Amino acid sequence: MRKQIAAANWKMNNTQEEGTKLLNEIINSDVQVNDNQRVIFAVPFPYLVSANQQLNNRANMFVSAQNCHNKTAGAYTGEVSVDMLASINIQYCVVGHSERREYFSESNQQLAEKVDRCLSKGITPIFCCGEPLTIRENDGQNDYVAVQLNESLFHLDGETIQKVVIAYEPIWAIGTGKTATAAQAQEMHSHIRAVLANQFGDTVAANISILYGGSVKGANANEIFSQPDVDGGLVGGASLIATEFIQIIKALK
Ligand code: 13P
Repeated sequence: MRKQIAAANWKMNNTQEEGTKLLNEIINSDVQVNDNQRVIFAVPFPYLVSANQQLNNRANMFVSAQNCHNKTAGAYTGEVSVDMLASINIQYCVVGHSERREYFSESNQQLAEKVDRCLSKGITPIFCCGEPLTIRENDGQNDYVAVQLNESLFHLDGETIQKVVIAYEPIWAIGTGKTATAAQAQEMHSHIRAVLANQFGDTVAANISILYGGSVKGANANEIFSQPDVDGGLVGGASLIATEFIQIIKALK
């Protein structure tokens, strides 16, 4: 059965001291994470090791990288490879966040390579997709997202794709306070699952967790997560506030 996941994406926020405090507040709270659920913290690279130590193998909680390079190793100054992530026991990596697609010109082809690199080291890619506002305004979001999935994930086989987590993050809803309605989220998630089913079959599609991201907060998480094809959230701003993220974790199915 597919997992229900609350994933925090800290982006480029928090000093080490702030991050340590935040993580402590969350892991020492009364949150219960059962075996059908996962709580994931995508922290900046410098904190991966210390955050992992802080979690100390706590059941069903994991640290994630926010990015990795698409090449295995070499002269890429400032970059981080999946081998490095695997060598410090990182088990998840966000791939293809819209901010990286936009500010670092990441292409669907490069992202396909990143997905492969991660999977080759047993790291679960949290693969992000989602349309910009202009595409949504012209009702082109379904085709747009299908192309992103096709070009970055459809080279995988049916067994391997089940190791990927997908996050649908409409760009117009990221950091804007303008959340997709629960109905809009469900509509897209069901479309994504249908696209996956068409390529890999119904059973495979039913096993893949699809997270929603874009202005998720404590107050709207319940409604969004209650949708049948929404398997949790990838959370930016609200994941920086312990009480908010705790509420979001508690909203998981
Ligand atoms: P916000 O929750 O701040 O809108 O960010 C969403 C996001 O980009 C998570 O990856």
